[in-house]
Amino acid sequence: MRSHYCGDLNRSHIDATVTISGWVHRRRDHGGVIFLDVRDRAGIVQVVFDPDLADAFATADRVRSEYVIELTGLVRGRPEGTINANMPTGEVEVLGKSITVLNAAKTPPFPLDEYSDVGEDVRLRYRFMDLRRPEMQQKLVLRSRITASIRRYLEDHGFLDIETPILTRATPEGARDYLVPSRTHPGEFFALPQSPQLFKQLLMVSGFDRYYQIAKCFRDEDLRADRQPEFTQIDLETSFMDEAGIMGITETMIRNLFQEVLKVDLGNFPQMPYSEAMERYGSDKPDLRIPLELVTVSDLMAEVDFKVFSGPATDPKGRVAALKVTGGAELTRKQIDDYTKFVGIYGARGLAWIKVNDRANLPDGLQSPIVKFMPEAVLSQLLDRLDAQNGDILFFGADKAQVVNDALGALRCKIGEDLNLYQAEWAPLWVVDFPMFEEGSDGRLAALHHPFTAPSCSPEALKAKPLEALSRAYDMVLNGVELGGGSIRIHDESMQHSVFEVLGISAEEQEEKFGFLLSALRYGAPPHGGLAFGLDRLVMLMTGADSIREVIAFPKTQTAACLLTQAPGEVSNEQLRDLSIRVRKPVADA
Ligand code: AMO
Ligand code: AMP
Repeated sequence: MRSHYCGDLNRSHIDATVTISGWVHRRRDHGGVIFLDVRDRAGIVQVVFDPDLADAFATADRVRSEYVIELTGLVRGRPEGTINANMPTGEVEVLGKSITVLNAAKTPPFPLDEYSDVGEDVRLRYRFMDLRRPEMQQKLVLRSRITASIRRYLEDHGFLDIETPILTRATPEGARDYLVPSRTHPGEFFALPQSPQLFKQLLMVSGFDRYYQIAKCFRDEDLRADRQPEFTQIDLETSFMDEAGIMGITETMIRNLFQEVLKVDLGNFPQMPYSEAMERYGSDKPDLRIPLELVTVSDLMAEVDFKVFSGPATDPKGRVAALKVTGGAELTRKQIDDYTKFVGIYGARGLAWIKVNDRANLPDGLQSPIVKFMPEAVLSQLLDRLDAQNGDILFFGADKAQVVNDALGALRCKIGEDLNLYQAEWAPLWVVDFPMFEEGSDGRLAALHHPFTAPSCSPEALKAKPLEALSRAYDMVLNGVELGGGSIRIHDESMQHSVFEVLGISAEEQEEKFGFLLSALRYGAPPHGGLAFGLDRLVMLMTGADSIREVIAFPKTQTAACLLTQAPGEVSNEQLRDLSIRVRKPVADA
């Protein structure tokens, strides 16, 4: 049905007779001549029908947008003055000789032949149409090239593609599980894997040495632009390799990928300890394209006559930090108010600021709601520490360290974007030396990565001071997005028990939930470690999309639903009975 793809036609095909098949992208009637833009996955070409071929002309006259057609014609150069430099096929057109309508189409729910700002709901409901848009096609084509490049690299480096189960037991990665009821075991449930973590570790115990999988993962968590309930990992695991080896091989993989697909050289990735990332950027995934940094000023604020600052400054869990924006004194009151609202999202109770108008003239040269609380000596030290110049603005956060880090860390990125402060197109790095545990608001400890991550200390030291223990984990960050994370794993049973113990998991619960892993650790588990990349996030960054939904063919909405298939949906009573399930409908809010 075709000799060429529409989008592939160019000057070299002039005078050739070609057959193309595809969709009518646009139809124009120009004083007795009909122009059809015909589209297939390779692109769009212009076809002209003259009235002297009456049959073909009549058919061309009746086709409408998105009709599926097959046509044969002669490729010719476009006349001088009608060449379209914006179109890859813009130097040629096809003179239509015959045309067949293969299928008609209803009027599309939104136009595909021009950029139109269609609501995402409509796009997702008619995703099969949305995916016809050339920009969506390009993203999915790039996604395919990315996975192909990665597979090639991993295969060339001795990694084996091994599948792991989807119906399984809970594999904890910190989110809620998606559960699947078992018919054959009434009242019991499978969990869909949050990651292949435990299976890939078992494969190392089995001796496969290097494993990879492009794996679907399922997490029932609050969704954001870079999170989906069902997403894809490039998952890998190795034996007898240390951190340096694993980071080296995966960094090269990503560098090669960017080189191959985008012709971009990412260079060597710097490494930064977690503590430094939090101190300087308020984030464990710092966007290093932005030159702004947080500076701790707690020591200077301990004595000031402003409780909002002196309180956190003297609280061991508190932090007072400043963020200098060069030239930011030009920000308006309205912009500052908007930033104050913005940091509120992250729990900040305010956003104090100082505009430096005339540094030499303290305190009158400073404009601010808070300088009145600060002695001149403090102001002067503050300006020195931040190397503040006339025309700068300083923003302040004072609260529990976590609130300050979240708020100023996010503000840093927001201002970087608003004022376009980016100094590079790409800024990759590794974040290393993570803490093993973090303390929740209920005082309980949780694993910062997952509980199978090896600590860099002894079991005794771990149990004695769990909050001080560091892990052998590493995250790859690109442009402020956590692209992937991994670690050296625990391969020693007693260490695994120690970690579970610190997490408050009783001996019985350990056996019940993770007995199979503990058993494997007793039968000759090699030292092993690995990493998983978020494929959707990688493709999002490489295509410049602003959400992973744009690079997933059939994504879910923010409420974890599929508008196309209307999933999730209700099931019949028979199905529920087979599963021994009775549904209790949530009581509607009064
Ligand atoms: P982690 O939980 O960090 O590690 O996941 C690895 C990477 O997967 C991506 N990711 C997501 N992408 C889209 N939607 C989500 N809901 C989502 N959650 C995570 C991120 C993340 O960096 N088993 C470990 C890996 C290991 O230790 O080897 C794991 O799953 O890009
Ligand atoms: P107030 O005395 O409440 O009017 O606050 C004076 C300034 O401090 C205002 O600009 C507030 O936005 C700011 N502010 C209040 N609480 C905090 C906080 N926790 N961190 C940083 N700035 C704050």
